[in-house]
Amino acid sequence: MSEIAFLLNGTPVRVTGDAPTRTLLDFLRDTKGLTGTKEGCNEGDCGACTVMVTDEAGSRALNACILFLPQLQGKAVRTVEGLSGPGGQMHPVQEAMVTQHGSQCGFCTPGFCVSMAVGHLQGRTDHDTVLAGNLCRCTGYAPIIRAAKAAECAPVPEWMTTDATRVAAQVAAEGRDGGASLPRDLDQFAAWYAANPDATLIAGATDVGLWVTKQLRDLPKPTFLGGIAELKRIDRQGDTLRIGAGVTVEALRQAIAPLHPSFAEMLRRYASLQVRNAATIGGNIANGSPIGDGPPALIALGATLHLRRGAARREMPLEDFFLDYRKQERLPGEFVEAVTIPVEAPALRVYKLSKRFDQDISAVCGAFNVIEKDGKVKDARIAFGGMAGIPKRAAATEAALIGKPLTLETVALAKEAMAQDFTPMSDMRATAGYRLTAAQNMLTRYVHDLAGTPVSVLEVTP
Ligand SMILES: Cc1cc2nc3c(=O)[nH]c(=O)nc-3n(C[C@H](O)[C@H](O)[C@H](O)COP(=O)(O)OP(=O)(O)OC[C@H]3O[C@@H](n4cnc5c(N)ncnc54)[C@H](O)[C@@H]3O)c2cc1C
Ligand code: FES
Ligand code: FES
Repeated sequence: MSEIAFLLNGTPVRVTGDAPTRTLLDFLRDTKGLTGTKEGCNEGDCGACTVMVTDEAGSRALNACILFLPQLQGKAVRTVEGLSGPGGQMHPVQEAMVTQHGSQCGFCTPGFCVSMAVGHLQGRTDHDTVLAGNLCRCTGYAPIIRAAKAAECAPVPEWMTTDATRVAAQVAAEGRDGGASLPRDLDQFAAWYAANPDATLIAGATDVGLWVTKQLRDLPKPTFLGGIAELKRIDRQGDTLRIGAGVTVEALRQAIAPLHPSFAEMLRRYASLQVRNAATIGGNIANGSPIGDGPPALIALGATLHLRRGAARREMPLEDFFLDYRKQERLPGEFVEAVTIPVEAPALRVYKLSKRFDQDISAVCGAFNVIEKDGKVKDARIAFGGMAGIPKRAAATEAALIGKPLTLETVALAKEAMAQDFTPMSDMRATAGYRLTAAQNMLTRYVHDLAGTPVSVLEVTP
């Protein structure tokens, strides 16, 4: 690994000679003795390892267990040890955790405090969302949420604001060239990857991280895409939005909230804030998972996928990218550059069904975009995750709707047709029968939703 330089609790550190797939969590605990950052699950699920990472885009909470050291180049990391002031003063969220009795065994407490401190820095008061990625087994969440509320009005300590300016100064002074494994220039990277198709592309590492921490895999030529600014852009182009492959799920959620509120609300339940802050939409598409939450909504929107190999670019409807289980229409040395979606789709609704409301993988994720004209269905795009080996359109269901009024009677026929579209599997999340029934019932829910009936569990009251 070429030298990696970043700020750790305000102090510059330089790392050389470590494997590029060494995690920040291991580095903090084993090399730096910063054992306040805990290892719970080592797969991004529990938040015990939460740290604050700052770069020119701002500060965010990330899980250190699935964060590789090269992803920190030129950034600032603040662990729980760095939350207290230079004289040992506690951060307001730490004080509040004491006064509100927010900690019992204390194992989860550092992670909670870091997530809370980032939320506090950003003036956020949506504590349930901010803390959904931090799990506590013994205290219970009520005192922890009370602590977050109690700290809301306290001023942000001065030492929590210095990372941003110091990061900017460091980048200006030293640049950030990291060689082939840490590309900055999109064209150079495209040419290099076309010549090195055996490289392992790493964007947010929320999938790849687990290949290392859980499967103990050696990755050939790990190549980190996080430094390529062009891949992180969201550009309005006429009636469409072009979303770079490196845009994080959280950045996408914020950008589309005014345009596609139902899609954005589903993304709020995509993993946790720590994972959304790292995971990219390009990684979500490229991994080809049948239960990825991005593709069904994008397919229902009629998204176009932009692929690139060297200087050659091609595009296709997103649904054509997914060929078979974990098999995609991607050539060696080709990568996902962007995805484009329409700016307007007022009929789009997206429903995620999972055992737990927050921080859970979908059993079924359904996306519906049905256009009516003169009282009849003119066009229908319906796509599901969790119903086949790939994210897939419901062709027979769509055909059963087209040309008919969108009534509950039509929907009853379309629900029968859905059985021709899918033969879902049974696994630990749901049985095949449950999946099909749930997907069919989502169509009924959609019709009620379009009619203005409250359909979210957050809205429906007894
Ligand atoms: C705790 C946890 C919870 C999760 N919850 C959800 C969830 O609720 N919903 C959901 O959909 N997913 C979930 N995931 C899965 C994961 O977050 C997503 O698949 C994510 O979008 C992957 O993006 P990434 O940037 O982290 O990809 P990475 O892990 O960096 O890469 C994933 C794959 O894509 C490839 N790749 C990355 N970028 C490109 C590119 N531009 N071109 C070509 N190939 C590329 C990589 O080589 C790799 O094969 C969860 C993961 C964790 C750890
Ligand atoms: S140790 Fe559980 S999220 Fe990192
Ligand atoms: S205080 Fe014990 S796990 Fe949260």
